[in-house]
Amino acid sequence: MKVLKINGGKTLSGTVRISGSKNASVALIPAAILADDEVTICNVPEITDTDALTEILKYLGADVKRASESILIDPKPIVNKEIPEEMSNKLRASYYFMAVLLAKFKHVEMYFPGGCAIGARPIDQTLKGFEALGAKIKEENNKYTIDADELTGSHVYLDMPSVGATINTMLVAVKAKGETIIENAAKEPEIVNVATFLNNMGAKITGAGTSEIRIKGVESLKGCYTEVIPDRIESGTYIIAGALMGNYLKIDNIIPEHVETLILKLKEMGVDMEVGADYIYVSKKDRMKPVHIKTLGYPGFPTDLQQPITTLLTQCDGESVLQETVYENRFKNVPYLNSMGANISQKQDTIMIKGKTKLHGKTVEATDLRAGACLVLAGLVADGTTTIRNIGPVLRGYENIIEKLNEIGADVKIVEEE
Ligand code: EPZ
Repeated sequence: MKVLKINGGKTLSGTVRISGSKNASVALIPAAILADDEVTICNVPEITDTDALTEILKYLGADVKRASESILIDPKPIVNKEIPEEMSNKLRASYYFMAVLLAKFKHVEMYFPGGCAIGARPIDQTLKGFEALGAKIKEENNKYTIDADELTGSHVYLDMPSVGATINTMLVAVKAKGETIIENAAKEPEIVNVATFLNNMGAKITGAGTSEIRIKGVESLKGCYTEVIPDRIESGTYIIAGALMGNYLKIDNIIPEHVETLILKLKEMGVDMEVGADYIYVSKKDRMKPVHIKTLGYPGFPTDLQQPITTLLTQCDGESVLQETVYENRFKNVPYLNSMGANISQKQDTIMIKGKTKLHGKTVEATDLRAGACLVLAGLVADGTTTIRNIGPVLRGYENIIEKLNEIGADVKIVEEE
């Protein structure tokens, strides 16, 4: 079995360049199906999640050419067919194929999506959006059969600002007759990225990035070009690494506004940073102040940085409090951090992190993508060697993470262990 070995305590300096957003890419790739001609998506990270989605595109018959940072997709040869369970349960984002196949063919057969085990993660709001637009949905043993005689614009009110449900409803609405209004829409930057792509194809979407999105359906969508925004969660993860072990570490190719709440929190903690137009310099701070953090949908503090910043909070002088309001089971990293020397207790949806604690290298396990990122960060700051088992989830979401970390001075390698 492959494990990650990290020899901790190394100072991180130089420049790390941020890749395209995983969570935008995994929506843009299925969305390509909606075009009636070839599309080009630039700055797509080479991670197993994007590979899994291009496999589904090819399975459906699309012509896909993968260059180092971009993908050329010709959806013309696509035929509609059932997407097998072993393909759809690889990741949460496979359900975007439900939306695009419904929009294009008005018939879908596929299974419940996969995704990190950080909560129940139902898809009821996505199905609510599909039904509001005229779809009839049958579910049997996790397999969904979705049909629509006609797709008609509607007024969809989401019970919670779900990122996936917002994108899925938008993907169907662009081909529905008439206007759709999505109320209580999520405001994440990845949603704006998808809306821009669809508008480049000729869709008529306004309000993406706000809680009310209006979509006027169109007959056809043409081929076009789009670019993936920088990954704000990868940006945040390396900014936190800089606050832990950095010496004027430069995180380059970012959109500072997309990590604003993190930057503000680090300022509260006393971390020294220099924020530029598309980069940030950050250095390790020995004496940091504890803080209170509550995760919320964008522009609140992102739930995906909750586990990574927990490692930083173990190095603050005093007790920090972190409340996770988005997922009901996103603290699986805590026992492993405590085994390394942290002092974290949990009460329902809140953890209390008492610092400053010395972390020692241990053998730990990545239970999900961002828990894995948290443990990589812990390995960077711990003394001795940290071994991380089950590293698949980490490689799913961070392009070239081993190379990027070693280039800035870390000592990380993948080794085979029985
Ligand atoms: C996206 O997941 C991201 N994944 C997640 O990132 C991110 O944590 C999440 O948005 C919130 O920002 C992708 O974009 C591929 P939600 P998504 O629908 O769309 C509940 C990572 O680490 N909910 O906003 O699935 C749900 O259970 C991943 O990169 C319903 O109850 O998130 C969760 O508790 C992890 N019913 C909350 O809402 C629904 O129909 C937020 O879910 C949909 C969601």
